[in-house]
Amino acid sequence: MAEIAGVLMMSHVPAIGGAIAKGVQQEPYWKPFFDGFPPVRDWLAQAKPDVAVMVYNDHGLNFFLDKMPTFALGVAPQYQNADEGWGIPVVPPFEGDEDLSWHLLESLVDAEFDPVSCQEMAVDHAFTLPLQLCWPDMKWPVRTVPVVVNTVQYPMPSAARCAKLGRTIGDAIRAWDSDARVVVFGTGGLSHQLEGERAGFINKPFDEKFMASMVDDPEWATQFSIHDIIEKTGTQGLELLNWLAARNTVPGTMRTVHSNYHIPISNTASALMALEPA
Ligand code: DHB
Ligand code: FE
Repeated sequence: MAEIAGVLMMSHVPAIGGAIAKGVQQEPYWKPFFDGFPPVRDWLAQAKPDVAVMVYNDHGLNFFLDKMPTFALGVAPQYQNADEGWGIPVVPPFEGDEDLSWHLLESLVDAEFDPVSCQEMAVDHAFTLPLQLCWPDMKWPVRTVPVVVNTVQYPMPSAARCAKLGRTIGDAIRAWDSDARVVVFGTGGLSHQLEGERAGFINKPFDEKFMASMVDDPEWATQFSIHDIIEKTGTQGLELLNWLAARNTVPGTMRTVHSNYHIPISNTASALMALEPA
């Protein structure tokens, strides 16, 4: 049966792609951010995952506001990146894992989640940047499965629902008839708001409590409504739902491999956590 080797959660700000393209990782603005990643790369080199399940929100590259699934799952052999208009380079395509995708789809539908199944899917910065930060040579050593959560347009799924999505995906991975090692990514957040009168809003005390909960109390955030989370973390801080789903693929306490928190990257409180089963 397959095994979850770890859960990696990190922010996905497009400007990171610009910094990588310009090679400015060691400049003072970027160094505290990029310095978070070597320990994660070391851990990946030793954990040697075969597959990455990517829990993230699409920002209009694949789903626009006219068709917004609450949950969607990629079941394609390959996923292409494309220009989103941020001026960052398009990265090489990602191999899918059709066997795990279809197994997850069947498991989710059995559990009454009913995600939209996508046999073609473009992947945006929320999918590409975390993988680029983990494997800067862009020779992707993992097959991928995209899991898209609507954190963008009302009505969004509740925190409790996202945690349950994660538990269902975790159980399905462990029941998958494969000896693959799977790493689960949750991307986005933490607190940030890009528009309106609270643009630039960041809530460090809340982010710190949320990050602590990821270690040993993964359901802590399910006490909050969508409105609570937006009030506490900003409109785009709601992307923490992706962390919540990813983290809840593994029950109970996890061991912290590495964590980093840095304000700001662009408008975002940038956070990184690498956890492995305790
Ligand atoms: C920014 C953050 C995001 O999560 C995103 O998807 C786009 C931009 C930002 O802070 O610039
Ligand atoms: Fe985002």
